[in-house]
Amino acid sequence: QDVRTGAWELCDLAVSVAREAAGLVRARRAAGIGHVATKSTETDVVTSADRAAERLITDRIRQARPADRILGEESGTHAGDSPVTWVVDPIDGTVNYVYGLGHYGVSIAARVADVTVAGVVRDIDSGAEWRAVRGGGAWRDDRRLTGSEVTDLGVALVATGFGYQPDRRARQGAVVGGLLPHIRDIRRFGSAALDLCLAAEGLVDAFYETGLNMWDYAAGGIVAEEAGLRVTGLSGEPAGAGMVLAAPAALYGPLHDRLVELHARAA
Ligand code: IPD
Ligand code: CA
Ligand code: CA
Ligand code: CA
Repeated sequence: QDVRTGAWELCDLAVSVAREAAGLVRARRAAGIGHVATKSTETDVVTSADRAAERLITDRIRQARPADRILGEESGTHAGDSPVTWVVDPIDGTVNYVYGLGHYGVSIAARVADVTVAGVVRDIDSGAEWRAVRGGGAWRDDRRLTGSEVTDLGVALVATGFGYQPDRRARQGAVVGGLLPHIRDIRRFGSAALDLCLAAEGLVDAFYETGLNMWDYAAGGIVAEEAGLRVTGLSGEPAGAGMVLAAPAALYGPLHDRLVELHARAA
């Protein structure tokens, strides 16, 4: 049984598996969208490429480390008795994939004892790749990332996203409407994992979204944290389904407090 838990080694495996999965999705997309089915609502889609990529990722992890657990968006929990859990989103941004817009990614994180220790997000279309190891920094290729230097929320470009449930969306819309007058602008690119990497790189100044699952934010979250951003929920909660807020220190307080106020009003 393989219980080596070195974060660099886990990161290297995540990177090589993410590259292979990205290649599979690119090849599939070149041949067409594939079969599209709906999940929780008619706007929540899954394609044959999501499923095939997740199968490839889980197969490769299983081959390399048969004792590890895996949590994947499309296939759920795979049991194991090692302390390592892999958290997999085979395509984050499936709607972008379906429309052929680009900007969808493979996201793979490794967690040990409930702490994310390594993560990689790879933009399938562009080939851009972000990775991080706990304590080892966040990287895009060979460039170390340090987030945005913007200090004034009023000129901050903030990325966010919306879930697939209509009632949640209505609340998310109310919050974003209340936030807009207080920031430079909003970006809704369609992939939470990539949004977190853009925030790590300072290509947006901050990111927040409610209702995310761990596979959406585990890898992007460690990339943002290792770039020096604070990544939390609201009011002392850890990042989770309630909220994933990622912001550099100077923006964190004002954005956090504004979101608390807007969520109370939208409840
Ligand atoms: C979605 C994307 C989107 C976010 C949604 C997620 P999926 O993931 O990350 O940006 O707003 O909340 O569900 O379904 O494309 O893997
Ligand atoms: Ca999905
Ligand atoms: Ca996702
Ligand atoms: Ca997905």
